[in-house]
Amino acid sequence: MNTLNWGELTPEKFLKEYWQKKPLIIKGAFSNFQDPISADELAGLAMEPEIQSRIIAKTTNADHKTSWQVTHGPFEQFDQFGESGWTLLVQAVNNFSANSQLLLDNFKFVPSWRVDDVMVSFSTPNGGVGAHLDQYDVFIIQGEGKRHWQVGAPDPSLKQLLPHEDLKQVSDFTPIVDEITEPGDLLYIPPNHPHNGIAIDNSLNYSVGFQAPNNQELFSGFADKLLDDDIATQRFNDVNRKITHSPELLSAEDIGQLKLFMQSAFDNQELFNQFIGRYLTQSHHPLEMLIPIEPITDEQLDDILAEDENLLVAVSGIKALIIEEPSPTLFISGEAFELDENTIEFGKAIAKEKSLTTNQAKSFTDCLKNRQLLTNVLNKGFWYIE
Ligand code: SIN
Ligand code: CO
Repeated sequence: MNTLNWGELTPEKFLKEYWQKKPLIIKGAFSNFQDPISADELAGLAMEPEIQSRIIAKTTNADHKTSWQVTHGPFEQFDQFGESGWTLLVQAVNNFSANSQLLLDNFKFVPSWRVDDVMVSFSTPNGGVGAHLDQYDVFIIQGEGKRHWQVGAPDPSLKQLLPHEDLKQVSDFTPIVDEITEPGDLLYIPPNHPHNGIAIDNSLNYSVGFQAPNNQELFSGFADKLLDDDIATQRFNDVNRKITHSPELLSAEDIGQLKLFMQSAFDNQELFNQFIGRYLTQSHHPLEMLIPIEPITDEQLDDILAEDENLLVAVSGIKALIIEEPSPTLFISGEAFELDENTIEFGKAIAKEKSLTTNQAKSFTDCLKNRQLLTNVLNKGFWYIE
C-alpha cells in the first residue's frame, strides 16, 4: 500500500496554505513507492479501443526548432516512436487498474466528488507534453524513473502557443518549483499554474486530477434536468402590473422579476439535490461495468451472502456520494437510490467502501430494504461479486 507521508505538513495545513493557492513538492512523500501499474501494462491499456490514450512526441530539426506530433490511441505497437522524446498518456487508468485506484485513498481529505481520475503517463528520456496550464488541481506522483518538473505562478502575460492543433502550450515561464522528481515524490499543481515535466529517464507519472464544474456546464446540466423531468414549465406572471408610459422599456424592475423567476427554479432543494448528485457522479470516462445477464434474485442474493469467500466489490473508479438532507439519497454513476433511516448506514458503506466481505454486508442485509438496495446496485452492474 502506497501511503502518503506529509512530513511537516498535515492535510489541514496543506488545504490552508497550498490548495488552489500555490504549488508544492514533497520529496519522498511515499517511501518505497510501488508503481501500481507497469509501463508494459500501461502500454497494454493504450491498445484498448475504449480507453483514451495519446502519444505526444517531439522532434528537433537541424535548426534546433522543435516540432510536435500527437497520435491518438488505440495503439498496435510503439516501436515507431523510438527510444526518446515521447510521452504516452492514458486517461482514467484507475477505472481499469484497481491498484491505481488505491492511490486515491491518500486524498480522502477532500470529498470524493471532487476527484476526477488518475491519468498515467509513461515518458521516454526528454519526453513531455510541453509547458501548459490545466484548469484543475492535480497531484503528480513520480513513479519509476526521474523527471525534471518546473511549475510557475499564474501569469497573464504568458503567450498561448498552439504548436499542434491538439496541443495548447504556453510560452516560457519563471519556475517557482524547479525539481528533479524521483520515485515517491509528490508534486501539487493548483489550477492555471504553468508547468512542464521533462523526463530524464523512462518515467511513470500518476496524475490525480480533480473535477471542478464550471457554471456553464452546471446551468446546462440543470436545464437538461428540467427538460428531462418536464418541470419548471410554468410561465412568468405579473399579476400586479402597473401602467407604463414607456412601453419600449424593459425596466430594471421587470429584469429583476425575470431574474427572480429564473432563480426560483433553484428553490426546490430536493430537485437541486437530485440534479447535483446525479451530475457529479457521472463518469467522464468508460467504466468496466459488469451487468449480470440475468438479474440477481432474492434467493441468489441469499446464496451469495452465504459464501464467506465471496467479496462484494465496487467497479473500479465508479463515483458515488451521499446527500443526507432533506431526503437521504445514494448517488452512484448518475443514478439515485432513495434511502431512509433503515438504509442510510448501508448506503454510506456502499458510497464509501470499495469492497465488503459477505460478513460485513450481512450486518446490514437482515433488513429487507438493505437487501433490495444491494440487489439493485449489483443488478445495475455498479458492484459485482468477486
Ligand atoms: C504528464 O504526466 O506528462 C502530464 C501531466 C500534466 O502536466 O498534466
Ligand atoms: Co498538466
